[in-house]
Amino acid sequence: MHIISLPALRIIFKIFAGLEIYGRENLKNVKKPVIFSSNHGSYFDPPIISMSLTSFSKFHPIYYFSEDSLFKTTIGKLAKVWGAFPGKLNKGIDSGMRKTLELLWGGKSVIIFFEWCYKQEILARRVDKLIPLISKESMRPIVPVFLYGAENLSWKKIFKFQKKVMVFFGKPLYINGHLSEEEMIKVFYDSLGDARARMIEIVKKKEQKFWGNYSKFYNYLEKADPHKELVEDFKNSIGDVKGRWIDLGSGSGAIVNILNEKGASNNAEIIATDFEHNFIEELKNRFKEKNNIRVEFLDLGDQINFEKNSFDGVTANLVLPYIVCHNDALNLAAFKNVLKNIFEILKPGGGFVWSSPKKGVRFWKVFVASRKNIFDFKDKKNIYYSPMILNQALKIEKRGRRGVYHFLAKEEIDKILTEIGFVNITHKVSMAKQVNIIKCAKPI
Ligand SMILES: C[S@@+](CC[C@H](N)C(=O)[O-])C[C@H]1O[C@@H](n2cnc3c(N)ncnc32)[C@H](O)[C@@H]1O
Repeated sequence: MHIISLPALRIIFKIFAGLEIYGRENLKNVKKPVIFSSNHGSYFDPPIISMSLTSFSKFHPIYYFSEDSLFKTTIGKLAKVWGAFPGKLNKGIDSGMRKTLELLWGGKSVIIFFEWCYKQEILARRVDKLIPLISKESMRPIVPVFLYGAENLSWKKIFKFQKKVMVFFGKPLYINGHLSEEEMIKVFYDSLGDARARMIEIVKKKEQKFWGNYSKFYNYLEKADPHKELVEDFKNSIGDVKGRWIDLGSGSGAIVNILNEKGASNNAEIIATDFEHNFIEELKNRFKEKNNIRVEFLDLGDQINFEKNSFDGVTANLVLPYIVCHNDALNLAAFKNVLKNIFEILKPGGGFVWSSPKKGVRFWKVFVASRKNIFDFKDKKNIYYSPMILNQALKIEKRGRRGVYHFLAKEEIDKILTEIGFVNITHKVSMAKQVNIIKCAKPI
């Protein structure tokens, strides 16, 4: 059955969920059977892993170790046809191992999810041990798998293009029979962590490439009226610029420029940052004569390593919703962590002004609002670059719809900021009504 159904599913997932598969080369010289071990976000995970292997992969058909209660549901009965079997883990480790070992000894590969299925602490701890023990007993390797974007997946979200799914197959782990139980669990979790870290690395590189491409013509956006409107509104949202300020994801430097305009007479120290090298060069060039401005490489995917309570103000125009990872966190958790990190580096009383495309943003409206600039024949390059900018903007919009970027409603933003501790939150709609400028502060 999988020979027909898996390619069909793969096509559906490629079209509707932008499925991307990485690390299959790690399986090239591995003999079957193997134990795939993956994070778990929804009932779609087993078919996602299966469809991510080639249709004629030696590992098909794959069996799925499942929680017993699943088989009381209709989904469970259907899942049986796909190879799901009751793991019997609640009866103890030995009974949990029995069926899986039978399958492995019979040359069949299995998937065991190490999270989500087992809400009870005791079962969650059993599954930690179970996977390395099965590997040791069967002498078959564990293949760590990391699924990105598979949490809470549903057909509705898939067909509405609301998800982006990526799969990473890690290096197979052969459990050394001399290891103690604790050591086995440790090497097992290290290999899962490694697969996750590799996936994050891939996601980061893709982001850097995306912004790298955009950097070649991003400065043309600054010439368009809607962007000018945004910069003007942003300027009005920033109070006095005194002391030490940092601009995150500075791009071609529109916000650094207004910080400089406002802060130069106060001898304000300004740090311009970005994680993309073309932008860094552009910033260095643009502000080379400004002694009060320092340009630094800063990847918001990592911890912002400035001293706590050290900034009078932080700005980030159209940057933070595009953060896809921060340290170990992914997606919305990453976005929240960056906001927490910003709260930490701000001085008490410090101001934070940032902006975000609104929920359900329509960037074509910005394009339409820029028509005067596009057809300004004094600079013919505008005609050439405008569709390219629109194309990038539509990609950004798509990522927002798929949940890769975070375009939240005002209420959601307020809730997150309040939970972190920010106060005096205000919003201003700008950029052809497609962007919100948010102003808030760290309490004194
Ligand atoms: C839409 S541009 C905004 C540029 C600028 N703030 C402005 O107002 O025109 C987004 C910027 O965020 C930067 N960026 C995206 N992800 C980043 C990350 N993880 N760390 C640092 N900068 C990032 C991009 O390189 C790009 O310069």
